[in-house]
Amino acid sequence: MKGVVLAGGNGTRLQPLTLVGSKQLAPVYDKPMVYYPLSVLMLAGIDDVLIITRPAEIELFRRLFGCGSRLGMHIDYAAQEEPRGIADAFRVGADRITGEDCALVLGDNLFHGAKLPSILRRAARELRGCVLFGQHVAEPQRFGVAEIGAKGNLLSIEEKPEHPRSNLAIPGLYFFDDTVTGIARGLRPSARGELEITDVLRAYLAEGRADLIRLGQDVTWLDTGTHESLLDAGRFVRDVQHRQGSRLGCVEEIAMRMGFISADACYELGAEMSDSPYGQYVMERARAHRLDPAPATFLEE
Ligand code: DAU
Repeated sequence: MKGVVLAGGNGTRLQPLTLVGSKQLAPVYDKPMVYYPLSVLMLAGIDDVLIITRPAEIELFRRLFGCGSRLGMHIDYAAQEEPRGIADAFRVGADRITGEDCALVLGDNLFHGAKLPSILRRAARELRGCVLFGQHVAEPQRFGVAEIGAKGNLLSIEEKPEHPRSNLAIPGLYFFDDTVTGIARGLRPSARGELEITDVLRAYLAEGRADLIRLGQDVTWLDTGTHESLLDAGRFVRDVQHRQGSRLGCVEEIAMRMGFISADACYELGAEMSDSPYGQYVMERARAHRLDPAPATFLEE
């Protein structure tokens, strides 16, 4: 399965932070924002990822991850010339995705929770069209919104409705089968001029091939699109890390836990950043893994 991180857009809601840089490289506490969505794909077992960014920022992302081999992955890049909408990811990336199932994650979405890896594995396993997720929120009108019937079946999907039919927001993480590029090719821009991800989901729904998995309260989902939510996300990461003693979105550790790289390779990656607590943590995790390669709690069911 291919993974796609959509990390373009103009980040206008975060200006002036984003005037000369990518929003998805902005810090969320101790690491660049993109580490978090990338780590979600990795936890789903995906080691082949396409990162879509603004043309001017491809080189910055490449400096961060290179071809991915240091993480035991294959990471490729594509430029989105204009922010034409989230579903444009399947046009921009069409030649690299076609013929494969794929998972798309938005570059400003952060997920955390002990059950997350098993939920991701379930989504990949049960894929028979598309899988989207739902989480209860207080202000659904800010998001894509799903409506669920009495038997838990998906009834409708709307993008930022003025009068939402439910409080079930659709987070920026989706699994699709290999028909997604064809569906995206046939899309027309919405009234607000964007190729909407919700229109892709609706096309699957119309064919009876869309499934929704509810993320319970034990999975935290944050998007970091505003100054407030960016700060909240940083505080959340700091608090959880402080309390649990393990780091969220630590791609080096996850690469090791997922078997993409050895403990020795992970140690080397940490050693390159040994002046920072983050680098020290990666080294310490690699040392511990050499002694006891049992999965960390984040990989347990
Ligand atoms: O966060 C979840 C929500 O994300 C979903 O519930 C909505 O259905 C979905 O449309 C999206 O809403 P947002 O208003 O948050 O989307 P936004 O325009 O902020 O874009 C989300 C991310 O995708 C952001 O990191 C920028 C990137 N992006 C966006 C567009 C429109 C691109 O890279 N290219 C684009 O063309």
